[in-house]
Amino acid sequence: MRGARVIPVDHSSGMLGRLRERTPGIAAVRADGEALPFSDAVADLVCYAQAWHWVRVPVAAAEAARVLRPGGALALWWNDVDGEDLRWWERQQQRLEAMSPGYRRAYRTRPWSDELRWTGLFTEVVTVSGRWSRTLPLDRYELWLRSKSYVQAIGDRLEDFLDAERRSLLKVFPDGMVTEPFHTVLVVARLPPNSRSATIRGPLADGLAAGVGLPIIQ
Ligand SMILES: C[S@@+](CC[C@H](N)C(=O)[O-])C[C@H]1O[C@@H](n2cnc3c(N)ncnc32)[C@H](O)[C@@H]1O
Repeated sequence: MRGARVIPVDHSSGMLGRLRERTPGIAAVRADGEALPFSDAVADLVCYAQAWHWVRVPVAAAEAARVLRPGGALALWWNDVDGEDLRWWERQQQRLEAMSPGYRRAYRTRPWSDELRWTGLFTEVVTVSGRWSRTLPLDRYELWLRSKSYVQAIGDRLEDFLDAERRSLLKVFPDGMVTEPFHTVLVVARLPPNSRSATIRGPLADGLAAGVGLPIIQ
């Protein structure tokens, strides 16, 4: 988005720290997607990259609608492993569902666009998807696995999980290069051109929108 003013938001200081390492000098905001510290109708686009599944849809959708200008859009996207026909993926998912408390693979397949339609806030909701794949060395793949919250949630048995993964993957990819197919899902929901601000606003959002104590990280 050439020429756009972009403000990254995440509620994790750890994640914002990684952003700062990679993009020194960037001004980012630590905040919850359910209580954005921005005034009404200031943004043309609100994006959630791989994060919408963490928020309560009616609250976060109303909050996005509040900060969007009339006609603005909320865009959500995920890259999900396209693993239905892959036995190594099935084995991995079974291991995760057994070892990671509360993990269920089905969190990826909610009816995202219907959930946005049901809020009644948006005039138009469209979904676009595409497929791609990547091939990476097993140690990089393991690093990627370790970065996931549901893998870290395995706790004391994390190394057992990773050992089992390594053995399973080497059977399928004996040269140590793992090929992972993905599908990308993009959901875009647009506000009506003459929309008024949504009404859900918590006390935190009100206080922060007034510009008091903005948790800006620079
Ligand atoms: C899979 S990571 C994606 C991070 C980044 N958007 C990206 O695409 O690389 C999910 C992120 O959602 C953030 N998150 C989870 N719940 C949140 C919330 N309620 N408000 C803001 N961020 C949240 C987490 O801190 C985490 O950094």
